[in-house]
Amino acid sequence: MKSKVTVVGAGNVGATCAERVAEKGYADVVLVDIVEGMPQGKALDMLQSGPVLRSDARITGTNSYEPTAGSDVVVVTSGVARKPGMSRDDLLLTNMKIIQSVTDQVVKYSPNCVLIMVTNPLDAMVQLALHVSKFPRHRVIGMSGILDSARFRTFIAAELGVSVEDVSAFVLGGHGDQMVPLPRYSTVNGIPITELLPKASIDKLVDRTAKGGGEIVALLKTGSAFYAPGAAAAQMVDAILLDRKRVLPCAVYLEGEYGIKDTVVGVPVTLGRKGVEKVWQIAVTPQEEILLQNSARAVQELVEIMKLK
Ligand code: NAI
Ligand code: 2OP
Repeated sequence: MKSKVTVVGAGNVGATCAERVAEKGYADVVLVDIVEGMPQGKALDMLQSGPVLRSDARITGTNSYEPTAGSDVVVVTSGVARKPGMSRDDLLLTNMKIIQSVTDQVVKYSPNCVLIMVTNPLDAMVQLALHVSKFPRHRVIGMSGILDSARFRTFIAAELGVSVEDVSAFVLGGHGDQMVPLPRYSTVNGIPITELLPKASIDKLVDRTAKGGGEIVALLKTGSAFYAPGAAAAQMVDAILLDRKRVLPCAVYLEGEYGIKDTVVGVPVTLGRKGVEKVWQIAVTPQEEILLQNSARAVQELVEIMKLK
């Protein structure tokens, strides 16, 4: 039997993620949204790309949760996206209500799923979904680090004129302006970029990465990025359902790792069939630790506003 993936929110990120998962063909996909007809229409359109893409994945669109029952992975993208002038944090109270009700429904129909959260403000929404679902931390994971590090990788590759395939990069911390790109751990085929680029150039790439989401919002004017976010969420689905044991930066609830407790932030983890199978604790310098703590504090401030009890 094929695996089953539900994507809640059939907007820009959700539809892109659903398409990426469906085209691989190893899982059936259910697309859920509150807008009547829209998830059904998008699902039918995607289904009809199957013969061209050589995928037999079944794709269903729905406004209810019954068809999602027994999903192995649920990707949550429902909510509002930011517009120019808004920070991710400005979305907190609106998206909080949406994530509460969506998580209740998801848990009711798929009590054993792995939840991948995408909705912003990301880290706070992961913490909320963890609270509402009562799932263990290894089954509630946020997508942000893959996107942020993909942006960093893109900029490094362009600066050095090399293939993105040969560039790996790490970005830790919350998915906000205080994210922590780590140049020391960012390499071109194993060579740290600190050996390849002057500090001033690296600082520019780091700054552009931290502001990467805002750069796209300013260009689009009507919403935020979705191609790279959709691809990044689909990569997490792959890692989990294909039990790939990929080591990827994801937002997880920390229980003392990096000196951070009871807070969701992005760190490297092993992703496999059970979800987060290991949280990697890599050595950070005192300066990087301060940046990571600041990033965690920014997440804690949002979590306090939500008054989770
Ligand atoms: P969008 O507006 O294109 O899609 C959101 C969809 O959610 C809409 O179709 C809407 O009808 C639906 N929705 C709203 N309430 C719902 C509910 N209760 N149940 C089911 N569906 C519901 O927005 P987009 O661009 O897809 O972004 C979605 C979210 O993802 C935003 O919060 C955005 O900030 C966030 N995001 C996060 C990223 C990350 O790295 N974590 C990257 C990109 C976006
Ligand atoms: C991004 O970084 C909006 O969080 C989203 O593009």
